[in-house]
Amino acid sequence: MSTLENLSCPIDAAPLSRVERSLKCEHGHTYDLAKTGYVNLLPVQNKRSKDPGDSKEMVAARQTFLNQQHYFPIVKTILSSWPKGDLLNGVRILDAGCGEGYYLNEIGKALLDQDISIERTGLDISKWAITAASKRDKGVSWLVGSNASLPVPSERFDAILCLFGFPVFSEFSRVLSETGLLLLVESGPDHLIELREILYPSIHDYKQTFPEGVEGFELVLEKAETYVFTLNSQTEIEQLLSMTPHIHKASYDGREAVKQLNSINLTADIKFRWYRKKLG
Ligand SMILES: C[S@@+](CC[C@H](N)C(=O)[O-])C[C@H]1O[C@@H](n2cnc3c(N)ncnc32)[C@H](O)[C@@H]1O
Ligand SMILES: [Zn+2]
Repeated sequence: MSTLENLSCPIDAAPLSRVERSLKCEHGHTYDLAKTGYVNLLPVQNKRSKDPGDSKEMVAARQTFLNQQHYFPIVKTILSSWPKGDLLNGVRILDAGCGEGYYLNEIGKALLDQDISIERTGLDISKWAITAASKRDKGVSWLVGSNASLPVPSERFDAILCLFGFPVFSEFSRVLSETGLLLLVESGPDHLIELREILYPSIHDYKQTFPEGVEGFELVLEKAETYVFTLNSQTEIEQLLSMTPHIHKASYDGREAVKQLNSINLTADIKFRWYRKKLG
């Protein structure tokens, strides 16, 4: 069950307690639970825009696309590459920038099949993403919030997953337990290359993210996975495009060319990097 426990007030960091359908801090700040069970812990003063993060349309497109399971191999690799000995009963996981909740939902189901019971929290800055996520899976504590200021006490989690997201390493380090793990999942050089070749006149050289390493963490495992999947309709192609940055970056001509496609074979090229929090 979603517990919404051990969270902190985003205004003053005081502990939040559950009072019926609200979370309250000792200074009188109150956060009501939404009908679907999530809680919004993103105070107005921390918002850079009125409706931050992914829009309702992007969330819907991503949900429809992910539900077709083209990215299920990513779930499998997350589980198989999880450092041995760290995936135990009771492990507390945060998906930071969880989107509409596909990965936490699938991970929960897969681990339940292995009789491993975990505590899952999903946080995203988009209320649309969290609304969709909270309808998908009632076993997760879903929070609207920002990676820049996580509304949880220090050392609250054993693992943080950040998939295609916006990591804030100082916050991740603060909220991880002493030997906590961080997983970054990102696209590799050939990701969706067939689509990018249609969208752009030329393909930029690939730049590795965080080439100097990540402050406060040491890299424990790096893995790349490549596979091919097929989209068999213009609608599916459109949905995939809507959930990537290419929808905004590509030229008009490129997008028009993609609209002519009815099927496409696409390369998924995904990078997985596991880090462990450095002691002291
Ligand atoms: C490319 S999507 C990936 C979503 C999900 N991890 C997935 O792979 O399906 C990036 C997500 O990051 C969220 N986001 C953007 N800025 C954020 C922030 N500062 N804190 C938390 N989430 C953020 C967006 O709303 C969006 O849902
Ligand atoms: Zn407060």
